Amino acid sequence: MLGSLEGKNIIITGASSGIGKACAVECSKAGAQVHLIARNLDKLNEVSAMLGDSVHTVNSFDVTHSEGIEPLVKSIVDTHGKIDGFIHSAGIQITVPVRASTRDSYVSLYSVNNVAAYEFARSISRNKIKSSRGASIVFISSMMSIVANPALAAYCSSKAALLGAARSMALELAKQKIRVNCVSPGFMSDSKMMRDDLQGSLSQSEIDELKKGYPLGLGETIDVAKMCVYLLSDDAKWITGQNIVIDGGYSAR
Ligand SMILES: NC(=O)c1ccc[n+]([C@@H]2O[C@H](COP(=O)([O-])OP(=O)(O)OC[C@H]3O[C@@H](n4cnc5c(N)ncnc54)[C@H](OP(=O)(O)O)[C@@H]3O)[C@@H](O)[C@H]2O)c1
Repeated sequence: MLGSLEGKNIIITGASSGIGKACAVECSKAGAQVHLIARNLDKLNEVSAMLGDSVHTVNSFDVTHSEGIEPLVKSIVDTHGKIDGFIHSAGIQITVPVRASTRDSYVSLYSVNNVAAYEFARSISRNKIKSSRGASIVFISSMMSIVANPALAAYCSSKAALLGAARSMALELAKQKIRVNCVSPGFMSDSKMMRDDLQGSLSQSEIDELKKGYPLGLGETIDVAKMCVYLLSDDAKWITGQNIVIDGGYSAR
């Protein structure tokens, strides 16, 4: 089967919602033991229920608590064995004009979207943590890493910086059989971010305009999750340092 994760131990941040949740379900279906990380325990337990009897753990944790990342990863290794894969899907988006933004809002967005990705990858790169077979790391970036919208400077910057980090890590960690890639989605119709935009900040004409930009229409979180499963699997063993854009053709213009 293409994209088998049989016997692999996969850590997923942002697993309580959206892309992370879809990744948890798809990784589990592909045979992985998944370790779910997010803050909201009730939502994590709902995802856990979707995974049935498959081996998995639920970890209520704020990824901005950098000092807790290594102990958390180590506790997973102690109980379930070394790590084969990691998806960083935890992320926040703040729409604010530059002149109205603050240093604190910029830094706090970075600490979720970017610094946490780095800290988990740093931990997983250690030999005592990563599987002897190697490991695959996937950062969920965004189409906004290669194009932009106004009032998204912090978000666009945090996502573009993931691409640079992934390329450098890919070169450095290849000899340890660790692959590092980014997946950059466009808007998905079933995501909370999209719902928030539909309900809040965008007018109907702006929503219609947004949809027109997608030759294949808006995507779904499962479209992204399936790519993540592939990148985590041994079928992707020659893919590293890449940014896979999944945006229904938006950025092809
Ligand atoms: N939705 C889109 O259209 C879209 C497009 C391009 C890229 N992306 C990117 O894809 C990723 C996932 O987006 P999504 O649509 O799935 O968003 P979402 O439904 O809002 O989910 C975000 C996840 O991040 C977790 N999270 C946020 N802050 C956290 C923190 N401090 N500690 C731990 N977990 C935290 C949330 O869990 P808790 O609240 O339970 O902690 C939740 O599980 C994000 O990085 C986003 O930038 C999304």
